[in-house]
Amino acid sequence: MKEKLLYLFCDEEPLVGDNVMFSVCEKRFRKKYTEFRIPLVLGQTQTWERHESLDQDGIVNLYWTPDLENGEITFELHAKTQGWAGLGFSANGAMTGSDIVVGWIKDGQTFFTDRHAVGNELPLVDESQDYELLFASEDEEGLTLRFKRLIDTCDEDDFYITSDTWSLIYAYGETDPDEEDPFYHGRDHRGVHAINLLDPQIGLKEWGILNDIIIPPIHTSYWCSVFKAPQIDTKQHIIGYLPWVTKGNEEYVHHFTLLTCTVNEGEESVLEQFMQDYPKGSNCFDPAAYIIYSKCRSILSAWAVGGVLVPPGLNHFMSVGHCPGECTEILLPPEGIQVFAAQFHAHLLECELDSLERDLVTPGGFTTYAEMCQLFFMYYPKLEELNQCASNVDYKYFHTLFQVGGIHLNPASIDWEVDATNQTLQEHFRDFDWEDFDMKAYQEAEVKDVTYPEYESDYEPPPRHCPVESPVH
Ligand code: HEM
Repeated sequence: MKEKLLYLFCDEEPLVGDNVMFSVCEKRFRKKYTEFRIPLVLGQTQTWERHESLDQDGIVNLYWTPDLENGEITFELHAKTQGWAGLGFSANGAMTGSDIVVGWIKDGQTFFTDRHAVGNELPLVDESQDYELLFASEDEEGLTLRFKRLIDTCDEDDFYITSDTWSLIYAYGETDPDEEDPFYHGRDHRGVHAINLLDPQIGLKEWGILNDIIIPPIHTSYWCSVFKAPQIDTKQHIIGYLPWVTKGNEEYVHHFTLLTCTVNEGEESVLEQFMQDYPKGSNCFDPAAYIIYSKCRSILSAWAVGGVLVPPGLNHFMSVGHCPGECTEILLPPEGIQVFAAQFHAHLLECELDSLERDLVTPGGFTTYAEMCQLFFMYYPKLEELNQCASNVDYKYFHTLFQVGGIHLNPASIDWEVDATNQTLQEHFRDFDWEDFDMKAYQEAEVKDVTYPEYESDYEPPPRHCPVESPVH
């Protein structure tokens, strides 16, 4: 299997203030847009700043150029169909509540309407038509519709396009509609694609990290490889990453974690040696990989683990990882850090766990079967000291509650024998009297001391210039 993690980064001065990375990089690289040139019927060439295929097979393609100075965006929708095509803006990928534009050409006549959907049904025509058709054509390649709209049309039936990521929805029909409305697209001719329409395409560099291995024949493998970062002369910011999982391998690849390695002076060769001895990496739990454990500890983000044991047969079990004040007081600077993204990693169902389908207990651990509740934060500025922050249920409480002597629960100990019995820990839990067990007390021990801070946000959407009487969202 060949799986890749692609890192995207751009040069810049150190991040300051509350700018998110994208906007900092934007200033320098605005001129470095990739250009997409599309020949037009009359032999002219139209240049577009952005292009995305909205579906996997490249049937529906969208080209667009935002013009922030004039507050408008010009789009060109290409659909490989001889019928109708539609494009929509949606908050969540659903039709309901979306802002839709639909068009087709029939017998030389172009049909083009600004609509909105109030359900999974024919989108209604907006009272105010705010999409301006600039060009339409149809040939054996399919349908092309070029149109523009204001970023903020001030019509409550249209989306106000901000620099947030929106779901673009699309749909098409293979033939022209009989009447003035499109017909149902069916299940194969519609889809969703998340896009940040205003996001600048900055001069990105890519660093691909490729794992090319045959997965060992065991239930779960953790594979550790060492890669040398590209040589760079100026400060760089990683601004995103993309897992590239070979089609067909999706069910085998569970996650990637990138750690940075620090070696003391004079020790540089130990990692070089590992790379030489294991050019494709090794199983993370092999003694050979110990060097990685000892030198590569800093995840490119901080994370919290909730290590618990999940009783079987429950539909709501809350697992909570604490990063206690004792740690954050020492590790975080008094002015705090800027967290700009967070990513959950859980094995069952988010961190509210569902073990209804399970007869046995689920231990906390690394296999895909085990419980795992992690949260990865992306933040700046970088903290040298904080790599990870974890919490566990008090062991003493755990031992008394489950009568398991001194055994510490971990992925390996689940097969160990409980003192003075002939049972493994997993068997002990299988025969455990779950009916009379004080589940409430156990759950409270898990989630104790959780306080939810007040939500504060400095986020302000871009200013709007709508007439006072205009209805806005
Ligand atoms: C006569 C016109 C239309 C009708 C009757 C219609 C009807 C429906 C129905 C019944 C569904 C739910 C079943 C399914 O997933 O296929 C649906 C879903 C969907 N429709 Fe439409 N639709 C129309 C036009 C459009 C247009 C113009 C677009 C896009 C611009 C669109 C985009 C979608 C998408 C993306 C979904 C899936 C939403 C989801 O996954 O929740 N539809 N539509």
